[in-house]
Amino acid sequence: MAVIAGNWKMHLGPSDATDFMKSVDTASVPTVHELIVFPPAVSLHVVSSSAARDPRLQVGVQNIHWEDSGAFTGEISAPMAADAGATFALVGHSERRHVFGESDGDTRLKVKAAVRAGLVPVLCVGETLQERQSGRLDEVILRQLDATLDELRVAERFLIAYEPVWAIGTGETATPADASDAHAVLRARLEDALGVAGSATVPILYGGSVKPGNAAELMSAADVDGVLVGGASLDPASFREIAAATG
Ligand code: 13P
Repeated sequence: MAVIAGNWKMHLGPSDATDFMKSVDTASVPTVHELIVFPPAVSLHVVSSSAARDPRLQVGVQNIHWEDSGAFTGEISAPMAADAGATFALVGHSERRHVFGESDGDTRLKVKAAVRAGLVPVLCVGETLQERQSGRLDEVILRQLDATLDELRVAERFLIAYEPVWAIGTGETATPADASDAHAVLRARLEDALGVAGSATVPILYGGSVKPGNAAELMSAADVDGVLVGGASLDPASFREIAAATG
């Protein structure tokens, strides 16, 4: 079983999202795989509504505010995302951290809000190139995980996505060994915190320039339980191919 998730980022508004859903046709994807798409918030409803829906696809929101409602112009809350059809929530994506300045404290509050609303948090962690080159990979990803662990452990379910910042949208992919090494570090911390059985229910996905041509190799690496795909998830055929490649 693997999780194949597509993060559409700021692409595919309601019209394009409807077209995607009409043509994605995941019938050929092995049924053991769990498929999730993360549309922009304005497309959540059309993606989750029955007319355009592919029954295999689950839906998540890319970002939430940590409050449930209030005077926060431009923000959306976890209960609103759930109402629009989301069952998952990305938290701490590298673009939120590095482009929008989201701190570990913000991600902790957002995980808490997701859990409160019954959304499944997908915590994203990952190091910059400079952090990797200065030997701080483990320290950074464990700090990001530890900041949210108390909130994650009370969730009925959660996922982790390891996305090295230097591999996102750059065409640079971590090698399967790079991914395995980082995933093993995260897995060990989860086992310490939740026990071996508790940790085993938490998939750790790899993200960063995953494409149809490298998905199978990455997915077969030790400790890699799925992929979180950006650019290559926007085209229905490419998303389907990635999901099928991992059979
Ligand atoms: P790319 O697959 O475009 O590198 O994006 C990865 C990502 O950020 C998924 O969340």
